[in-house]
Amino acid sequence: MSQTFNVLQYVLPVAVVLGGYIGYFQINFWFRERRFIKLQGTQRVVKVPTSLPLGIDIIVTMVHEIKRHRLPEYFRDLFEKLGNTFDMKLLGESSILTREPRNIHAILTTQFEDYAGGAAKSLQFGPFLGDAIFTLDGTGWEYSRAILRPQFTRNQLSQLQNLEEHLQVMMDCIPDGEVVDMQSLFYDLTIDTGTDFLCGESCNALERRRNMGRKKEGEYWNQPEDDFAKEFNTSQKHLLYRAILGGQANLWNPKELQSAVKFCRTWFDEYVKRAIEDQKSGGTSRWESDDANEKPSKYIFLKAIAKETQDPVFLRDSLLNILLAARDTTASLLAWVFYVLVRYPDVEQRLRQTILKDFGEGNADDSKPITFESLKNCQYLRWVLNETLRLYPSVPMSTRIAVRDTTLPTGGGPDQKQPIFVPKGVTVIYDIYSMHRRVDIWGPDANWFRPERWGEKRNKGDFNYFDYLPFNGGPRICIGQQFALTEASYTIVRMFQRFKRFEAAEANEWLDLNLSLTLTVGGKGCHIKCYRS
Ligand code: HEM
Ligand SMILES: *[C@@H]1O[C@H](CO)[C@@H](O)[C@H](O)[C@H]1NC(C)=O
Ligand SMILES: *[C@@H]1O[C@H](CO)[C@@H](O)[C@H](O)[C@H]1NC(C)=O
Ligand SMILES: *[C@@H]1O[C@H](CO)[C@@H](O)[C@H](O)[C@H]1NC(C)=O
Repeated sequence: MSQTFNVLQYVLPVAVVLGGYIGYFQINFWFRERRFIKLQGTQRVVKVPTSLPLGIDIIVTMVHEIKRHRLPEYFRDLFEKLGNTFDMKLLGESSILTREPRNIHAILTTQFEDYAGGAAKSLQFGPFLGDAIFTLDGTGWEYSRAILRPQFTRNQLSQLQNLEEHLQVMMDCIPDGEVVDMQSLFYDLTIDTGTDFLCGESCNALERRRNMGRKKEGEYWNQPEDDFAKEFNTSQKHLLYRAILGGQANLWNPKELQSAVKFCRTWFDEYVKRAIEDQKSGGTSRWESDDANEKPSKYIFLKAIAKETQDPVFLRDSLLNILLAARDTTASLLAWVFYVLVRYPDVEQRLRQTILKDFGEGNADDSKPITFESLKNCQYLRWVLNETLRLYPSVPMSTRIAVRDTTLPTGGGPDQKQPIFVPKGVTVIYDIYSMHRRVDIWGPDANWFRPERWGEKRNKGDFNYFDYLPFNGGPRICIGQQFALTEASYTIVRMFQRFKRFEAAEANEWLDLNLSLTLTVGGKGCHIKCYRS
């Protein structure tokens, strides 16, 4: 008897307080929602059905789909079943998912102030990225963007010279007719070109790889101990775990991440120190470099932004942010291009003819200059890139957090076309991957790889030109778009000039979408054979 009494004595008050708390939030929410229904005509959005409390069944399914490398397809299935916008409640927290161009247009432009883009990334990637363009919102982000953005409109040509050097090393790593994982090579290419562009010196991941091959053959071996590319990889591995944890990202901060972050920061700090000293001495002293033949006029990103500010932390974090944004994205684009080309021989054939016509064979007697302009004007090459980014967008999903009670223009009510209420704090995920595969936008062959569609008229409807968004849109549009397209185009042209034939090295039964920080080729990677004759 007294036992029961004790239980009642403690449990009852707790239950009452908890009940009151939940009740308060429910009522508060109800009033806020009422206001939006009255003023804006918002209506309820469809919810993902769950069979277990707290959406446990959905979480289990999602973990399974992540393991199977099918998560983007799982979300696409949900959109096909439920409609283009829905609410997913997991562990008591709602997120809104959408693949509706009108909603994405609102988030990224007309209601830009209502949806924070930096806050979510800050939570997940903050320990690595610090406070910079990716992770900031408001005036901090504006300042950062104003300094970094102008750097991406100049000096395209020097970027190509820098690229050529690293590409030569990469192509040396491809043995004639043997199976190689191009994805892995492209990862090393983009980290080499990225570091070279940013600080004027490369971390030489490809060089290391080439020497590794030679070591096997008993040749000269002399490699510095520090391995920036490896440490950068390690940080990214852990950032991925944090991204998966979403709101609970801070639960994951192991020693290995901390030491990799420290390594990468120290690596950049050296260059930053040099740039600041250089700037203070009037910017005239030659950039120190191991390479005696280095032309003093070589464009160096860090040197250029150090003219604007000499804040060492700002400079270093900016470099880390840009490298993170530039590296995996461009590498995955290139990997997917070769993944599809070896599976669509007609496309490869047409691309090869176009490239040889525009740029020649690339040898002494037959080569035409490859410039920023000539790459941009190579139309079929651009079609192939556009089509690859449509089916395999490097950034398949992005997240925003509502910073105040607000709305989305469409998705509610029985016809799923009425505006919906988005309470403050709710996460909105916009799914570019699924939007790019909508049959009502792209036609019945939406899921086919067909570059020719870029030469045809398309059903634009009232999609606001926000129906194709591999590089995001609005004020936060990718600042590296031209950089990335130029780098990818140049690499493809040189690969076609060097190799006469590409061949798939494995048959994939199903599409393996490895969702790491970007959408990468899963399975064994992009395994192909390249033939020099
Ligand atoms: C194929 C390659 C690339 C793709 C598909 C891509 C895509 C994107 C996307 C979708 C965003 C928006 C992310 C969001 O707001 O949630 C973004 C932002 C950004 N990208 Fe890229 N990107 C690529 C390459 C690059 C390169 C090469 C650079 C720099 C050299 C770069 C620099 C940035 C920066 C700094 C931002 C942040 C802009 C801001 O928040 O104001 N990106 N990119
Ligand atoms: C870094 O990771 C990528 C992707 O997992 C891999 O392809 C690449 O070879 C790695 N580079 C180094 C230097 O470890
Ligand atoms: C590729 O896509 C962009 C964005 O929609 C478009 O502006 C451009 O015209 C396309 N390129 C070609 C060659 O069709
Ligand atoms: C998928 O990506 C992760 C992170 O980049 C990588 O560690 C893993 O090896 C990849 N898995 C496959 C099967 O490619």
